[in-house]
Amino acid sequence: ELPKLYEAFQSDFRIGAAVNPHTLSVQRELLVRHFNSVTAENEMKFERLHPEESRYTFTEADRLMTFAEDNGIAVRGHTLVWHNQTPSWVFENSDGGPADRETLLRRMKSHIDTVVSRYKGRIYAWDVVNEAISDQGGEWLRPSKWLDIAGEDFLLKAFEYAHAADPDAQLFYNDYNESDPEKREKIYRLVHTLLEQGAPIHGIGLQAHWNLVHPPLDDIRAAIERYAGLGMKLHITELDLSVFQFEDRRTDLTAPLEGMLEQQAERYMQIFRLFKEYKQYIDCVTFWGAADDYTWLDNFPVRGRKNWPFVFDGKHEPKQAYWDILELA
Ligand code: XIL
Repeated sequence: ELPKLYEAFQSDFRIGAAVNPHTLSVQRELLVRHFNSVTAENEMKFERLHPEESRYTFTEADRLMTFAEDNGIAVRGHTLVWHNQTPSWVFENSDGGPADRETLLRRMKSHIDTVVSRYKGRIYAWDVVNEAISDQGGEWLRPSKWLDIAGEDFLLKAFEYAHAADPDAQLFYNDYNESDPEKREKIYRLVHTLLEQGAPIHGIGLQAHWNLVHPPLDDIRAAIERYAGLGMKLHITELDLSVFQFEDRRTDLTAPLEGMLEQQAERYMQIFRLFKEYKQYIDCVTFWGAADDYTWLDNFPVRGRKNWPFVFDGKHEPKQAYWDILELA
């Protein structure tokens, strides 16, 4: 029998996988054996849970909770306030015009209250706010309806509402390009400001959608160091290592090229070595999937292009990267 992936770490370490109704069924055995945390890839997003103001749809999210609890797997929540996958009714009046600030904040509160309370004590951490920082040089917050209508303090309020609904849940700010030096400073500044305002925020989520060379290891290290300086917990929330570099738009590969998986294993080893170095801060690494038979990268950023980003292959067998990570133990 293969050693369990999560046992390669200290006992309170969590190794997670994002799951959806399809993978929950076809990857069930793999999930139960190697992962001690799961996250809903989509099923806890605003549009899935709350498609209309007066209607919540918890069926799939509840199924995920039951699967996890039946198998002794912890659940990490994703995500409460985001500019994507949020239905338009949230930002509109009944006449189709933009909602006002009070209405939007009332809706945000009611959504957060309902969702976080429903899973109170059963979800150990929530990505409360996702991707609120701009990727544009010189621009601070990402333009969004949340920001347009409610102003900057929607951020503080989101954390306050979540904390009121479950005082024991760890609350995270989550973002991507988190290791880019300029964005890193913006994320630092945002979280620092929230802390100064007294926000109940406990950690920063580093999405970690990386590839075989980017971002450079030194930038990842610098980001971890910088965020750790805030005295917060760090979770790696959406780890995958694409075999393609960003400029590479080839669509004709049906299997990884010679050398790609060796390079990927080496890279996984380097980053897990780094995570271990910072284990005082990092106690949770979630992959954005579990095995190469399914990944959102099959459709992003190039539609219909197969990718192989994980440490288990398409048949759920361990790749070289799995053995290399275990070696570090
Ligand atoms: C992605 C899902 O994986 C896809 O299935 C969906 O179509 C779009 O969202 N950052 C996040 C995640 O915080 O919620 C995103 O998940 C990937 C990028």
